[in-house]
Amino acid sequence: MARVNQLLDHEDYICYMEKINGLEKERRFCKHSFEHGLSVARVAYAYMLETREVILPKEVVYAAGFLHDIGRWVEYQTGEDHAEASARLALPLLEACRFSSEDIQVIVQGIREHRRHPGDNLTPLGEALALADDWARDCRHCSAQTLCYKFDDAMKQIMY
Ligand SMILES: [Fe+2]
Ligand SMILES: [Fe+2]
Repeated sequence: MARVNQLLDHEDYICYMEKINGLEKERRFCKHSFEHGLSVARVAYAYMLETREVILPKEVVYAAGFLHDIGRWVEYQTGEDHAEASARLALPLLEACRFSSEDIQVIVQGIREHRRHPGDNLTPLGEALALADDWARDCRHCSAQTLCYKFDDAMKQIMY
């Protein structure tokens, strides 16, 4: 996981996460911290291991998990959809960490798709991220259940 660890130490990744943490200090809904990225990476990889015949390399799935929301601060500041902003910001980071151009294409497309409906004919990584993004949340104990557009009883179920 050398390249993923290099990513986490990259000054731009650290800078984006600091911006997000600062902007989400008062947020009542799910935050988009390091922990969220790690949870999404783990759940997405577990899902792929159990359901896919062709498994993407672990580093590819984890890089996508950690990067899928790095553009959240852009959305807060400009209104641009964070899936697009995250994909754009992820590209130079992945290049700096020596991911191949094929892997970068897969990761960036997965990030771009992570807010779409999982049944919407997504790439395998996009589908795994879209599902993991919901399944990685602790909705059962959330104090903002009644205010959250995502919340319903199914969100309390453990899936992965
Ligand atoms: Fe997101
Ligand atoms: Fe997310």
